[in-house]
Amino acid sequence: MSLENHHPLTSISSSTSGFLGQNKLSIRTQNLSIPAKNSGISRCIATPTLEKNEAYKTKVSRNANMAKLQAGYLFPEVARRTEAHKLKYPNAKVISLGIGDTTEPIPEIITSAMAKRSYTLSTIKGYTGYGAEQGEKQLRSAIASTFYANLGIEANDIFVSDGAKSDISRLQVLFGSNVTMAVQDPSYPAYVDSSVIMGQTGQFQTRVEKYENIEYMKCTPENGFFPDLSTVSPTNIIFFCSPNNPTGFAASREQLTKLVQFAKDNGSIIVYDSAYALYMSDDNPRSIFEIPGAKEVSLEFIFKILSARFGTFGFFSLFLLPLIVNNQHLWLGTGATAYT
Ligand SMILES: Cc1ncc(COP(=O)(O)O)c(C=O)c1O
Repeated sequence: MSLENHHPLTSISSSTSGFLGQNKLSIRTQNLSIPAKNSGISRCIATPTLEKNEAYKTKVSRNANMAKLQAGYLFPEVARRTEAHKLKYPNAKVISLGIGDTTEPIPEIITSAMAKRSYTLSTIKGYTGYGAEQGEKQLRSAIASTFYANLGIEANDIFVSDGAKSDISRLQVLFGSNVTMAVQDPSYPAYVDSSVIMGQTGQFQTRVEKYENIEYMKCTPENGFFPDLSTVSPTNIIFFCSPNNPTGFAASREQLTKLVQFAKDNGSIIVYDSAYALYMSDDNPRSIFEIPGAKEVSLEFIFKILSARFGTFGFFSLFLLPLIVNNQHLWLGTGATAYT
């Protein structure tokens, strides 16, 4: 852009001394100058920097692993296929097994507490600035005593965050691209997709509809929805969801004991997703930490205790991570970087 004027000019300089010392400013392009004080009217004229129709391109390329993802996230794909089916068979009565949604309003006790807390932040006395990276101590203590009494989990083991899906990806950042991982098959898709994005996997194999370098642990009616661990290849990370989404299967104490032993034998970490634990009505474990020794090899998401049950998806992830590396909680570095 150039600025034509009919009066004496003040040019712009990036030098501070020039800027402060004299009324003399200039920029490298010489295309822009501003009139000195009281210098009168100016007229702006655009100076084209690109040839017509030439789109500007950065030199930054996308994470190549993104190209491995198949048709994006699973649920939009389910919705796309459902629509296509309905278009083809307008009279079909479709039972959707796609993404669910909460249907009940958020209880007033939650919304009023949130309103009260946010109002407090608008007062001089109540304003706190950034909160603790791990979440408020009072909340973490309450979670520990309410859900983990007698399981050896304390407030310091608990991290409160903004949702499980984002935490699954952050965990993958923590693990890095050189780990191997296992998932139940079928399972909630975020485990696999975040692994793909991190570069832990090979390409998608269309013939078998699986990614290379992921250990898929078959969970079907034939094996009672629990993997036959004698056929599972050891991996660094084992994502395990119980009750499982989408099968609804909840693992028994004996099965989880086997899983913990399997992880210990192979030096693996279990990422245990107990998102739907509050829906359980039998006495199968609600937490992996009910299994002796699990604390040494596991971390657990318990976020859905609040979110799924009380209609507040994506509000909280209660992230429980007692694993210690070099005398520090495994999550502390990543968590503190991701949250303020
Ligand atoms: C098993 C499981 N884990 C994690 C999530 C994601 O939870 P959030 O809404 O807290 O991101 C879901 C969401 O449906 C889920 O089904």
